[in-house]
Order: sequence, then C-alpha cells, then structure tokens
Amino acid sequence: MDFSIRAASLDDCKDIMRMIMELAEYDKQADHVKITQKGHTKIGYALYFYSYSSWKGRSIYMLDLYVMPEFRGKGVGKALMSKVAQLALAAGCHQLNFTVADWNKPSMDFYLSQGCFDVTASLGYHCMRCEGEALEHLAQP
Ligand SMILES: CC(C)(COP(=O)(O)OP(=O)(O)OC[C@H]1O[C@@H](n2cnc3c(N)ncnc32)[C@H](O)[C@@H]1OP(=O)(O)O)[C@@H](O)C(=O)NCCC(=O)NCCS
Repeated sequence: MDFSIRAASLDDCKDIMRMIMELAEYDKQADHVKITQKGHTKIGYALYFYSYSSWKGRSIYMLDLYVMPEFRGKGVGKALMSKVAQLALAAGCHQLNFTVADWNKPSMDFYLSQGCFDVTASLGYHCMRCEGEALEHLAQP
C-alpha cells in the first residue's frame, strides 16, 4: 500500500479531528472530547510535543498514535512512529515517551515489537493528573 508521512497543515484539521474522536472511542473516552471539526482523506496521525527530562535532557512525548481500522497492519503505524523518532533524534532528544492503557494489548504488543519497554513495569512509575476543582484549588495562592 502506498502512503506518505508529512507534517499536518491547517487543511488536515477536519481529518485529524475525526481520528481524534475515533481514537477516543477506541479508548472508551469519547465523551471527554470537547473539541469540534468536520470532513477525510487521511488515514492516520501521530500527535507529539517536545518535553524535557531533568535526567536525560530533551525528550519527545507522543500523545496520540492512530491508524484507521481498515488500514492497520500495513506498516502505517510503524511509519508514523518512525517519523516521530526521526524528529526526536533530529531535535537532540534521547527519549520517546507515551502511555498505553492496560487493556490495550494489541497496541502494547505493537510498541513492544518496536523495541519500546514498559516504564511502569520496570521502574514502577504511574501517570498522575490534577484537573477540575483540584487544579483550581492547587492554583490558589
Ligand atoms: C497501534 C496502531 C497505531 C498500530 O498501527 P498499524 O498500522 O496497525 O501497525 P503496523 O502495520 O505499522 O505494524 C508495524 C509492526 O508492528 C507489528 N504489530 C502491529 N500490531 C501488532 C500486534 N497487535 N501485536 C504484535 N505486533 C504487532 C506488526 O507485525 C509490524 O511488525 P513488522 O514491522 O515486523 O512487520 C494501530 O493498531 C491503531 O491505531 N490502534 C488503535 C489506536 C491505538 O490503540 N493507538 C495507540 C494508543 S496508545
């Protein structure tokens, strides 16, 4: 199958929005998506940002990786993640970080097949969050 990987543009927002919703539905979290858009010719996306590790220096965080069901198993997910890895190395990053839900075994197996490891299992780290009233409360001087 022929496909290309490229940086997203404003014109891609409709398709990316659709896939964000599809990924949220896959994650059983659709009711948490509050952003809107409509329209599609793209079949997958990776959403990432640069971050920093006080121990390792520059790192990249991959927030989403998604391939539409009918295009899975054709190398698209691997190509998308490879692109994120290329961008990470080009920017001087030493780590590519991301999370995966414990029930999402297919994706866990995909990541393991790409040489990634489970930080929770090996280092005991847990993802933590502060939001809503707790965030408001925390922000009080
Ligand atoms: C996870 C996901 C992005 C993988 O994309 P994909 O296009 O289907 O994967 P690819 O075809 O690129 O697979 C690449 C490699 O991973 C392997 N792989 C893919 N799925 C696998 C699985 N379930 N178990 C083991 N290996 C797997 C393939 O065999 C292939 O190996 P190869 O390079 O030796 O041939 C895609 O399945 C998806 O969008 N899933 C739903 C959303 C999701 O869970 N996203 C991740 C949230 S954390």
